[in-house]
Amino acid sequence: MKRRVEVIHGVNLGELGRRPLEHYGRITLPELESAVRRFASEIGLEAACSQTDHEGEFCELLHRVPATTGGLILNPGAWTHYSYAIRDALEIAALPAVEVHLSAVDEREDWRRVSVIGDLCVATVQGKGVDGYREALELLRDRMAV
Ligand code: DQA
Repeated sequence: MKRRVEVIHGVNLGELGRRPLEHYGRITLPELESAVRRFASEIGLEAACSQTDHEGEFCELLHRVPATTGGLILNPGAWTHYSYAIRDALEIAALPAVEVHLSAVDEREDWRRVSVIGDLCVATVQGKGVDGYREALELLRDRMAV
């Protein structure tokens, strides 16, 4: 079993800690990533985390996922709602993926209800904050063990 999971955050997620408290809380990205690495190790996985504010770089991260990777956790931020480039790159990566959002995107503005990657993912977890990443890792672990 490949135990590595790539956890990729997109645009503006590096600014966690400065974003609206009611949606994102106070957690910073380094704190979030270290919690995700800890959750992963608790269930026998290894999380490799990255973040970029550049759409092409996000695509390249998907193009270059190491061969040792068994699954993906993606929070592309606002790109989720309109980036067909990221959708195509995810299709190329051809790995089980879970879409995660810290906030409850379905309960916010109408445009946030649209995800152009959702149907390529095994699940979407939203509105659960940091715990959503634990759920995503568990979903992937079950999927990867198959
Ligand atoms: C987000 C939700 C997106 O709508 C938003 O643009 C983000 C963060 C989330 O984690 O809740 O930047 O992906």
